[in-house]
Amino acid sequence: MADLIKLCKAEDVAPGQSFQVDADGMPALAVYNLEGEYFVSNNMCTHGMAWLTDGYVEGDEVECPFHGGRFSIRTGEPTAFPCVVPIQTYPVSLVDGFVCIEPAA
Ligand code: FES
Repeated sequence: MADLIKLCKAEDVAPGQSFQVDADGMPALAVYNLEGEYFVSNNMCTHGMAWLTDGYVEGDEVECPFHGGRFSIRTGEPTAFPCVVPIQTYPVSLVDGFVCIEPAA
């Protein structure tokens, strides 16, 4: 198994919030805490040049701050126009209190 990439401490991401992380060799990432369940996606909206971590987490969706498009945090699928292209999501592991993902293939 490839070495995991440590993104941040789980405690850095408050429940119902997102947190931007930069990791070597990866695009800018967003870490989300949905009531103790952690998810990671690319942070750049697929509709334009906006960081999803500047937007709003509502339930299990994130709303882009630019045009109000939305994505499922769990699957990356777009859930509200004008977003139609999914955001990349990554399987998450919690290791010793750190949110981790596998390197991109
Ligand atoms: S840039 Fe995100 S909805 Fe347009």
